[in-house]
Amino acid sequence: MIRLAVRVAPADAELVLAELVELAPSGVEESELPDGTIEYAVYGADGELPSLPDLRAAAGGSLVEILTSEVADDWDEQWKAFHKPISIEYGSSILRVRPPWEERVPASGQVDLVIDPGQAFGTGAHATTRLCLELVLELEPSGGCVDLGSGSGVLAIAAAKLGWAPVVAVDHERESVEATAANALANAAELEVARFDLRRDGPAPTARLVVANLLLPILIDVAEAGFDGPAPGLLIASGLLIEQADRVAEAFASSAGLVEVDRRCHGEWAALLLSAPS
Ligand SMILES: C[S@@+](CC[C@H](N)C(=O)[O-])C[C@H]1O[C@@H](n2cnc3c(N)ncnc32)[C@H](O)[C@@H]1O
Repeated sequence: MIRLAVRVAPADAELVLAELVELAPSGVEESELPDGTIEYAVYGADGELPSLPDLRAAAGGSLVEILTSEVADDWDEQWKAFHKPISIEYGSSILRVRPPWEERVPASGQVDLVIDPGQAFGTGAHATTRLCLELVLELEPSGGCVDLGSGSGVLAIAAAKLGWAPVVAVDHERESVEATAANALANAAELEVARFDLRRDGPAPTARLVVANLLLPILIDVAEAGFDGPAPGLLIASGLLIEQADRVAEAFASSAGLVEVDRRCHGEWAALLLSAPS
């Protein structure tokens, strides 16, 4: 877990906070230092935190300094306060993702997911994960699902809870595989979880639905290396900056014949829904 602190001059602190909340929807810790400087801190796994250029842009001329520090795993009570449940709605369905210490709030049509943020990427709050969750929620389950780069397992578990089966989750990091397996157990979700490096272990596993919240270079590699069976009927690709989306759509169109049927954006991020032509 990493703590990223942005220290700003007090005069424009409120304006900076408004920008930071956009970048870190799961919460911002605020404190005043003895010299009057305001410190805003966000917590998350590596890769899930706002980028330094974004933080600098948010702080603008008020920036005093940016500090990064590792937070010990047992240092839990404080950062817990910054991981809030998120809810995604579609028609009468609600997908609610909450950390284990937040109470379940029963509601009709709700799928309740408990995800322990731990060390793996994927509390559900990051824009790229949210966009994938939105797209999965809106699809009619129609077979198996593979989650490429599962992190905490949030997307695979959501797919399983929404009716996709069988569901396979792969990641190259041991921590992510462990987190996915533990979170699957906590949600009584049936998943096959495996350690798999998309760059080294051959073509990606395939299924009717493939969800891939990865970065541009790995998505292009996956498109070029292909799948270990028939191309997916549906593919959700995320982890993309808006200006990278065309490139990814083109890569999967030329390698797997998939066509773009939806594109969602949030802030600087985009997610694509690609489909085999009907
Ligand atoms: C942006 S995170 C997405 C996590 C989760 N699926 C979500 O949507 O919140 C990307 C994940 O891909 C994994 N990953 C990155 N490169 C990979 C590779 N070459 N092979 C397999 N997994 C990889 C990372 O370990 C990380 O867990």
